[in-house]
Amino acid sequence: MLNKRIVIERAGGVEVLKLIEEPIPQPKANEVLIQVRASGVAFGDILFRQGISPATYPMTPGYDIAGEVEAIGSAVTKFKTGDTVAGFSGTGGYTTYICLPENQLTTVPDGLNPEETVSVVLNYTAAYQLLTKAAGLKSGNSILIHGAAGGVGTAVLQLAKILGIKAYGTVSTSKIALVEKEGGIPIDYTKTDFVEQIRLLTEKGVDAVLDPIGGNHLFQSYKALNKKGRLVVFGVSSAVKGEGNPKIRLIKAMLPFLLLKLTPDSKSVVISTISTKTKGLQEDMAKMVNLLNEGKIKPIIAKAFPLAQAAEAQLFLEQTKPVGKIILQP
Ligand SMILES: NC(=O)c1ccc[n+]([C@@H]2O[C@H](COP(=O)([O-])OP(=O)(O)OC[C@H]3O[C@@H](n4cnc5c(N)ncnc54)[C@H](OP(=O)(O)O)[C@@H]3O)[C@@H](O)[C@H]2O)c1
Repeated sequence: MLNKRIVIERAGGVEVLKLIEEPIPQPKANEVLIQVRASGVAFGDILFRQGISPATYPMTPGYDIAGEVEAIGSAVTKFKTGDTVAGFSGTGGYTTYICLPENQLTTVPDGLNPEETVSVVLNYTAAYQLLTKAAGLKSGNSILIHGAAGGVGTAVLQLAKILGIKAYGTVSTSKIALVEKEGGIPIDYTKTDFVEQIRLLTEKGVDAVLDPIGGNHLFQSYKALNKKGRLVVFGVSSAVKGEGNPKIRLIKAMLPFLLLKLTPDSKSVVISTISTKTKGLQEDMAKMVNLLNEGKIKPIIAKAFPLAQAAEAQLFLEQTKPVGKIILQP
């Protein structure tokens, strides 16, 4: 049997996503070999593909996977063959088999399906870290989340409800009902000025704004904060659109962050990114899988594609702004 994997040889459009066949990888001492049942497709994969996020090619995108343990390395202690697991891969998830260090995995209880399981790994772990660590929020605090109807956005809304945090969320008109259903207070950014709306709704501004857009949008987000509020930058969606060198687009998306960081007032600005080196990754991922198992969170799944249709899956994400997670089924 062979492994099937999507490989990108160079930055570009979806045509650079190629399916290859190769021998199944063998786990190193601290690694677990997993047969992947579901892999997540994320906005960050498009940043790698376009050459906006730094990458060494050839590379395989894919932040998260769910599957079964096929074999373990000699030093692995927490997992055994046959276990069902979820894993944060960072990259490499678009594949039928993957080897991951055991500290990037968590056990999945019986009865959870791989599609729902993979949907909580990147989005919910990132959302949990945004709320509790980057923004340092507690029950009674308030936030504004941009892209509230997106994968991370809906995760933030569901977790904010559990944590007792009041959540306002920017959203386009057709998705207002969804934000309300998830417990958020929607602000239609296509028809109103969100800074004005936040002033009207809160008077003093919110305790934190979670901004995945970047660029000049950050100046507006900063204005929506109260005096001691914190702006958390967690993405650079604005760099995806437009002409010219992707690296220059990335610099433009990040420059306002540096300017705001130098502003002498009592507000603060931080960046939050999730990676394989993130502190508390395994612990927080396990918390999210437990919340899923207890029925306290419910990821929205937009559509599943076969692995060979990774290009269609990324196009679907880029072009339709879908509600929920896109999955590959290897
Ligand atoms: N830092 C981390 O650890 C981390 C982890 C995961 C993802 N991310 C980042 O988070 C961002 C969102 O990812 P995702 O997977 O949630 O994407 P997604 O599911 O595609 O959702 C993005 C949402 O943003 C909305 N949107 C677009 N332009 C907007 C604007 N100007 N104002 C308000 N909303 C806007 C879109 O819906 P509308 O129709 O409402 O516009 C869409 O629902 C990406 O930048 C990604 O790279 C960061």
